[in-house]
Amino acid sequence: MWASLFRKKTIDKIISDQLEVEKLAGHSMIRNLGVRDLTFMGVAAIIGASIFSAIGQASANGGPAVSLLFVFTALACMFTAFCYARFAATVPISGSAYTYAYTSLGEMMAWILGWNLLLEYAISNVAVAISWSKYFVDLLEGLGFHVPEFLTMDYLSAQRAHVAALQALEAGQKLEQMSVNVREGFVAFNSAPVFFGWHFVANIPALLITAAITYLVYIGIKETKNMNNVLVILKLAVIAIVVGVGAFYVQVENWTPFAPNGISGVLKSVAAVCFAYIGFDSISTTAEECKNPQRDIPKAMMWALIICTVLYVMVTLVLTGIVPSGELAGIEDPLAFMFMKVNLPGVAGVVAASAVIALTSALLVYQMGQPRIWMTMSRDGLLPKAFSRIHPKYRTPSFSTIMTGFLVGIPALFANLEEVINLSSIGTLFAFVLVCGGVLILDLDPENQKKSKFKIPYINAKYYVGLSLVLALYLSLPTLSAWQQWFSGIWSGAEKADHVIMTCFFLIWVVIAFFSVTHNLSLIPVLGLLVNMYLMTQMGAMNWERFLYWCLAGLLIYFGYSYRKSKLNV
Ligand code: ALA
Repeated sequence: MWASLFRKKTIDKIISDQLEVEKLAGHSMIRNLGVRDLTFMGVAAIIGASIFSAIGQASANGGPAVSLLFVFTALACMFTAFCYARFAATVPISGSAYTYAYTSLGEMMAWILGWNLLLEYAISNVAVAISWSKYFVDLLEGLGFHVPEFLTMDYLSAQRAHVAALQALEAGQKLEQMSVNVREGFVAFNSAPVFFGWHFVANIPALLITAAITYLVYIGIKETKNMNNVLVILKLAVIAIVVGVGAFYVQVENWTPFAPNGISGVLKSVAAVCFAYIGFDSISTTAEECKNPQRDIPKAMMWALIICTVLYVMVTLVLTGIVPSGELAGIEDPLAFMFMKVNLPGVAGVVAASAVIALTSALLVYQMGQPRIWMTMSRDGLLPKAFSRIHPKYRTPSFSTIMTGFLVGIPALFANLEEVINLSSIGTLFAFVLVCGGVLILDLDPENQKKSKFKIPYINAKYYVGLSLVLALYLSLPTLSAWQQWFSGIWSGAEKADHVIMTCFFLIWVVIAFFSVTHNLSLIPVLGLLVNMYLMTQMGAMNWERFLYWCLAGLLIYFGYSYRKSKLNV
């Protein structure tokens, strides 16, 4: 039984399955994508809710120093990008990290990875839908149409704002003096119809846009290469406006202090910042459509990451240079908000209109990606057959597409942006960890190394992992060894959990250092593994708890259904 949990699908089997699918479909993919198209695709997938929405709360937590976190996280993504490129060259089919894990880590891990890709694709799209809704409502407002507040936000935000506003009112503050999000939430909560004591507050535009996009994906809309390029140019243009116009309104004194809430404040934004880079990996799924995947995919991933990092850093600096970071708490449309703040409603309107279009394209990318992952998992027998059913007329994975619509649309009605981003980021980081780990395992077999057409530049990890571990231990030992505080009653449950998570991280680091020495592991995937894991440690106890429940639910389905139904059984 145990060995069968790690049964693998061979690369040859994956390729022959794919050929069969193509034979049934009567066509294979056309290879016409080059570095520029791939880079554009990457930028299209990466830039979304983070830069338009989550950056507000992230800046409120960490201040201008969040810009540095963007650079650090980009490094983690670059290490991971090498690993994706390595797999894309080895398994050159339009699979995903799920397929990669199947060949390297075995079925159970592949399932868990596929399960977590749900967080990366479907759940992240909930955030994009919420962000879209906020800008859409702004746009309507600018055009003179008012949508009642209770139909434009989630229940939790409204309820929290209501509580905050009541406290402030009690303390003698006037409603007009409170922040915009508290005011709006208060109004939403109090104007909402009440059913059996429950205030009906729901994000209707987020549901409607998800339904519309699902319909387009269902009938098989194809974002052509040219359309995609136009949308990316639009995204870049709106960011150029934000930076170019915004730069004139920056007040340098707003950058001091650079990290108003210290390092812990900056690290509170890890989830939002990681979320910002989700999507760079989507480039690897086009392996079959590239002119030269081995050469172009890694290059395009790097370019996309570099371009987005530069943009993210500039936008963060402009935003926090115009609006004191404390005022950005809970603001879901910070880029429009910032121009309203400096009395440029026209620019705010242009930004809102462009954001609506840009976010629509991001929604489309993920809403198309999710059903295709399910389709592959279903073909392997891990999900019911319906998930790979192809619509006879539209040639799209019909059932999977509709399921994705529900999975995104319903939570989008009620979910809170921050919570969604947290869950999506931790799941995605875990997927990245598995991909980096997968490369290390794949390369243990020298035959695999010989077969691959793309080689990750090799530096022997053994010299670095141990040394860096000693240094990190030296710096962290005072904190790590504070176990006596565990029993002193000072620590809350969350603090205890954080301590356990950090200790586990160091233990894993020790194990990796050991294997680096014994197996001469390659430095880049090892760094990817460690940096992504470190980012995961910063997600906080509550997110870990949710994430563990999520994985547990995944394992229950695996053992209850997928393990028995797997095609590898026959
Ligand atoms: N990176 C994507 C975004 O920021 C998911 O919306």
